Amino acid sequence: MKVIQSVKEMQAFSREFRQTGKTISFVPTMGYLHEGHLCLLREGRKRGDCLVLSIYVNPTQFGAGEDFEKYPRDFEKDSQMAASAGVDVIFCPESTDMYPEQYHTFINVEEVTQNLCGLTRQGHFRGVATVCCKLFNVVRPRVAIFGKKDFQQLVVIKTMVRELNLDLEIIGMPTVREVDGLAMSSRNTYLQEKERDAALSLSQALLLAKRLYDNGECDTATILQAVKDRLLKSPLVRIEYAKICNGMTLNDLEQLEPGAVMAVAVKVGQTRLIDNHVFGETLEIASRAN
Ligand code: PAJ
Repeated sequence: MKVIQSVKEMQAFSREFRQTGKTISFVPTMGYLHEGHLCLLREGRKRGDCLVLSIYVNPTQFGAGEDFEKYPRDFEKDSQMAASAGVDVIFCPESTDMYPEQYHTFINVEEVTQNLCGLTRQGHFRGVATVCCKLFNVVRPRVAIFGKKDFQQLVVIKTMVRELNLDLEIIGMPTVREVDGLAMSSRNTYLQEKERDAALSLSQALLLAKRLYDNGECDTATILQAVKDRLLKSPLVRIEYAKICNGMTLNDLEQLEPGAVMAVAVKVGQTRLIDNHVFGETLEIASRAN
């Protein structure tokens, strides 16, 4: 497994590799890898001759007062996990190389960035779209694999790729959960024991929404009320949003329709957590009594 830090070196590697007629698959991450990332890597392994993983905590997608400085980092452990997942190249650039002084170019995907996380995380998706476009241009993959855990991010990236005619395919993979239902996230490491328990409210609330839908409920206001009540059963949970949206435009819906997504964002203590469920898809969570 190669470790490449420099943008120029990564570009040279990709150029040479592509000249042989072989394809690159790519999984962009911010590191502190977990099983969710590993699933993306396994899919990537199947879809290209060379599997590139990027590890880069991208400063432009963090707002003032967010957790950029304290975002967890462990390169040693990440590289061991990457090697065991069959990664060929880890690309881990420095910020001075990605965003030199006098950097002025950003990508703004409109509309689909307005709702959900766009309501509170000003500039977040501008940073995500910009860094992903830069990474795609440096790594030049045939396919890039993303998680549905960050549903809005996946929609934003697919929109950017389609509208800017970027020559790659974007694949979305299902959310990987702990056995009790908590969606895996590098940020789960911030949770204290009681907060970890309270965080289960997210997946439990999604399960409740799924059950109501499966029993024929189509009124989003009714489902949302039940979801909010379930979330607030835990005093440690503060709701940022709980919404049911069209799965492509991300506009709020009054009546459920095929492909609709239930998306929630909460704060548990200082930790911000998101989760979602696409109605009609599977949601494998053991239900709990409380
Ligand atoms: P990060 O949070 O490290 O996530 C990297 C990829 O892993 C994303 O596509 C994310 O959706 C996916 N992922 C995270 N948790 C997952 C889970 N439990 N199950 C399945 N997939 C999961 O998302 C980012 O980094 C950044 O915004 C990035 C795209 C790298 C741009 O900086």
